[in-house]
Amino acid sequence: MKAAIMGYGTIGSGVAKILRENKDRIVFTVGEEIELKYVLDLRDFPGDPEEDKLIKDYKIIAEDPEVRLVVETMGGVEPAYTFVNAMLEAGKHVTTSNKALVAAKGAELIETARNHNVNFEFEASVGGGIPIIRAINTCLTGDVVEEISGIVNGTTNYMLTKMMNEGAQFDDVLKEAQANGFAEKDPTADIEGHDACRKIAILTSLVAGQQVDFEDIETEGISHITAEDIKYAKAMGRTIKLLARSKKEGDTYVARVAPYLLSTDNTLYHIDGVLNAVLVKGNMLGYAMFTGSGAGSLPTASAVVADLCDMAKHEGINIKIRWKKEKLNLADASKQKNEYFVRAKDDKEKIKEIFGDVNFVDAGIAGENGFITGTLEEDIFTEKKAKLSELLQVIRLG
Ligand code: HSE
Repeated sequence: MKAAIMGYGTIGSGVAKILRENKDRIVFTVGEEIELKYVLDLRDFPGDPEEDKLIKDYKIIAEDPEVRLVVETMGGVEPAYTFVNAMLEAGKHVTTSNKALVAAKGAELIETARNHNVNFEFEASVGGGIPIIRAINTCLTGDVVEEISGIVNGTTNYMLTKMMNEGAQFDDVLKEAQANGFAEKDPTADIEGHDACRKIAILTSLVAGQQVDFEDIETEGISHITAEDIKYAKAMGRTIKLLARSKKEGDTYVARVAPYLLSTDNTLYHIDGVLNAVLVKGNMLGYAMFTGSGAGSLPTASAVVADLCDMAKHEGINIKIRWKKEKLNLADASKQKNEYFVRAKDDKEKIKEIFGDVNFVDAGIAGENGFITGTLEEDIFTEKKAKLSELLQVIRLG
C-alpha cells in the first residue's frame, strides 16, 4: 500500500524511519508492505533517505489514486485541516499526531472519514507513543469512564521533576530544558497548560462521545511554581505534578488542567521526567494506568505507524468512533471540591479567622505562612482567599 507523509519534521521523519527500519514487521502485521511514495514539506532535505520523494503541493497526493494512507505531522490547525480534509474527501485514510487539529476538528474529520468509508485516526495526539486513544475507543467501551487523570505533557513533567530533585527555580530549569532540546524555544503552550488542555479535551470528547471545547476547560500552567513551593511540597511529603483531569458529573464531565500536590499513595506521584501517564477509572474496571514515552520523534511516530497498520488492515471498513459534533456543556468547575495549599504573608490568627481549622506546614521559610485548608468548593475558596491581604500561592491537593 502506498503512503504519504505531510510534514517532515521531528515526527514525520520518525515515521519514515520506522517504515524503513521495521519494514518486515509491518509486512508481518499488515500482510503487505506500506511503501512511502511522497513526503510533503516546503523545505529541502539534501542527503535525506527520502529526498527523492519530496513534493511541495499537497494536491499531488490528493489526486494520486495509488496513495491509500496519509500521515499528517505538520502541527497547527491550518493548513493541516485543509490538507487532511482534502485527503479524506479523496477517499484516503489519514492519521495525525496533531492535537490542535484533533481538539478543534476531530468530530468533523471523523464524520468526513465515515462518509467516504475511510478512517481518521489520531493515536499519537495524546500521550505520544502510549496507546490511550485505541484503549478508550476499543478496550474500555464496556465501561462508563468516571474519571481520567493524566500527566500528558512531557516538558512540564521534566521541569517539575528537576525542580523537585534539584530545588532549582523555574526559570533556570526552563533555560536548561531549552538548551537540552526538551522544551520548545517558545514554551508557552507547554508551561501554560494549553497543550495538556487540548489533550484532556480530546480524551473527554472520546469518553463522552461528543465535542468538548478546550476553551471551556479551566487551565492553569506551572510558570508560577517556585523553588519555595517545592520546599513546602517536600515538607508535606508530596510532589507537584501538572494534571489534566476530567470527572463524570451526572450526564456530563467537569474538567481542569492545573498543578496538583500529590501524596505518595497517588499512582501519578511516581511518574517522573518526560514520562506521561493516563489513569482511567471505569465503573466496572476500576483503575487502569497507561504510561510511557509521551513525546519525542520515535515514540510518537510509533503510534502513527500503528495507526497506519490499523488503517491498512481496515481497507474498505470504517471503524466507528463515537464523537458527535454537538458541544458538551461541561459541569461548573467552580462547584468542584478540593483541599488547597496556600502561602500567605498574613499571620496565623488572621488565617484561622478566615479559613477556620487549617494545617500549617513548616518548610523553614521566614516571613510567610503555608497551610492546607479543609475541603472547600472552588467558589467558596475564592471568596475566602480574597480576604487574605498578601496571598503568595495556591496549589490544589490531588
Ligand atoms: N510538547 C509536548 C510535550 C509534546 O512536552 O509533551 C508532545 O505532545
